[in-house]
Amino acid sequence: MAKRSIIIDTDPGIDDAAAMAVAFRHPDLDIKLITTVGANVTVDKTTANALKLVEFFDVDIPVAMGCPGPLIKPHQPSSFIHGESGMDGYDFPPVTRKPIDLHAVEAMRKVLMESDEKITLIPIGSQTNIAILFHMYPEVKEKIDEIICMGGSTIGGNVNSSAEFNYFCDPHAAAMVLKSGVPITMMGLNVTNRACATKKTEAMLKQGGRIQDMLYGIMDFYKGGTFEEGIRLHDVCPICYMIHPEFFTMDQRFLEVVLEGPAAGTTVMQPNMFQTDDREPKVNYAMDVDSEAFEDWFIAEISKPE
Ligand code: BDR
Ligand code: CA
Repeated sequence: MAKRSIIIDTDPGIDDAAAMAVAFRHPDLDIKLITTVGANVTVDKTTANALKLVEFFDVDIPVAMGCPGPLIKPHQPSSFIHGESGMDGYDFPPVTRKPIDLHAVEAMRKVLMESDEKITLIPIGSQTNIAILFHMYPEVKEKIDEIICMGGSTIGGNVNSSAEFNYFCDPHAAAMVLKSGVPITMMGLNVTNRACATKKTEAMLKQGGRIQDMLYGIMDFYKGGTFEEGIRLHDVCPICYMIHPEFFTMDQRFLEVVLEGPAAGTTVMQPNMFQTDDREPKVNYAMDVDSEAFEDWFIAEISKPE
């Protein structure tokens, strides 16, 4: 099977790190570029964390630093979830690698325009870089087969009663991407809250190993759940969906994002009965996930020998 070419746009972030731990080693994925954004923590920290991960896994993937924060809203990081560094809980060895000498937006444009085949974009942070990319270089849209993102929610929020963090962080960017015309598959809290690492994962990680020790350290620190109740592996969902779409129940829905006021970043979904065919954007939205299949798959991926 031909590998799927992808670009990961990320703000590591502990669940971002778990997503990359799987993606870096997956034989079906060819990661052309990692771009960073200021969201969970500042962009200098998310970039340092992305570099820690490519060095830890010894993969040859360029990292390009992106936007420092949202388009319009003030940046409100979530270091209370991921720690001051954005990836607390494990002492990564000193990093020798550096980001490439191109801004994330320019780096994405270059990779996309020079590619012979279409590429899948995987945003697992707020979508500021992607919004600017589409605004500056709309011609790149032709080179993207699909965006598979983690973001949004139609079942209540995780930063307040209605908004999910990635959409809350930069709602204007999320709205621009939603309206871009590029096909979008969206993994919101409807599924990511139930894509968890439980005691089963903890038992596997505690068996030890370099990768297991690192993931145990950061996941044990992570404030996005406990092994007892389930650690929410939000950002692993788009990676899992590429490999096992059958784990997810999808529906085509019309979605919008609230831009201003106390509910900014909230995803609003039209019920299908009110949807007319001419309403865009229609999103391939994840409604349900097989939690057990997801966790068993995650455990199998992480257990692969180095
Ligand atoms: C999203 O917010 C971030 O804190 C996580 O990394 C994930 O991308 C979940 O709402
Ligand atoms: Ca993230």
